[in-house]
Amino acid sequence: MPVMLAKKHTIVLGNEKGGSGKTTSAMHVIASLLAEGLRVGSIDLDSRQRSLSRYVENRRNWSETNDVPLAMPDHHVVDRSEADVLTEQHREERQAFETVYAHLTAANDVIVIDSPGSDTFLSRLGHAVADTIITPMNDSFVDFDLLAQVNPDTYEVKRPSLYAEMVWDARKRRAIADGGTIDWVVMRNRLSSLDAKNKRRVEAGLEALSDRIGFRIAPGFGERVIFREMFPSGLTLLDLREKGAGGGLSMSHVAARAEVRQLIATLELPDLHPGQQQQAQA
Ligand SMILES: Nc1ncnc2c1ncn2[C@@H]1O[C@H](COP(=O)(O)OP(=O)(O)OP(=O)(O)O)[C@@H](O)[C@H]1O
Ligand SMILES: [Mg+2]
Repeated sequence: MPVMLAKKHTIVLGNEKGGSGKTTSAMHVIASLLAEGLRVGSIDLDSRQRSLSRYVENRRNWSETNDVPLAMPDHHVVDRSEADVLTEQHREERQAFETVYAHLTAANDVIVIDSPGSDTFLSRLGHAVADTIITPMNDSFVDFDLLAQVNPDTYEVKRPSLYAEMVWDARKRRAIADGGTIDWVVMRNRLSSLDAKNKRRVEAGLEALSDRIGFRIAPGFGERVIFREMFPSGLTLLDLREKGAGGGLSMSHVAARAEVRQLIATLELPDLHPGQQQQAQA
């Protein structure tokens, strides 16, 4: 598969549940990697909503309008095929994805892929090239169900969910394609400070499940207005200093930024700077 030749570490944000925080997290991961001086290639596989692409466009506009230089990702959207026949759709989408992925891997140090909140062929292609999958989930048992159906008392797995099976399938494909492994990290999003009991129960459930279906748990993001309100400017918590932060950072900003840094630390990414990569391969 030509795509694998120039493999760069690829982080995929995925979860078949809509609105769980994939795009918000993708943009924060992108900004974190850019802030480390890395060249980041980003792919939006959600060509219907294009939220990540809008986030990136807003960032470019804000930077130009305010005359503040901001590091930008090398961003592309892969559109869904309009072909009538399914096999033709898949062929077109595979070709479009592989072209963009090969182009980005040649020119960047790391790739971040945002996927739609549904099972699509493009989403599967994205998962199949992942080195790291980040699955944001809301802190509730409704979202827990997307990982696995479990016995409510013992958390014994009754059946892995379709999404867990999709990750399993992606792991098999990676193993066959290039012997690679996929690190799957589940992060809880929109954590409420109010419902401590629910929080503990979901936490216990996730811990019981993590070994069985093979993921690690990241501490996650709190429910914070700041994660919502920066979309129109295309900024993230990592950029607030560049913005001049009119009036300085609030406690909530500082706490949110710490959450983003904690997520990146939990990913335990290899050193992605080009010089170090060459040394590691030598
Ligand atoms: N930690 C958070 N605190 C507050 N609001 C949040 C947080 N994370 C995400 N949101 C908001 O929740 C909504 C859904 O987030 P987002 O678009 O990132 O989810 P998604 O998983 O990409 O959705 P989709 O499946 O539709 O692509 C957005 O309005 C976003 O601003
Ligand atoms: Mg999204």
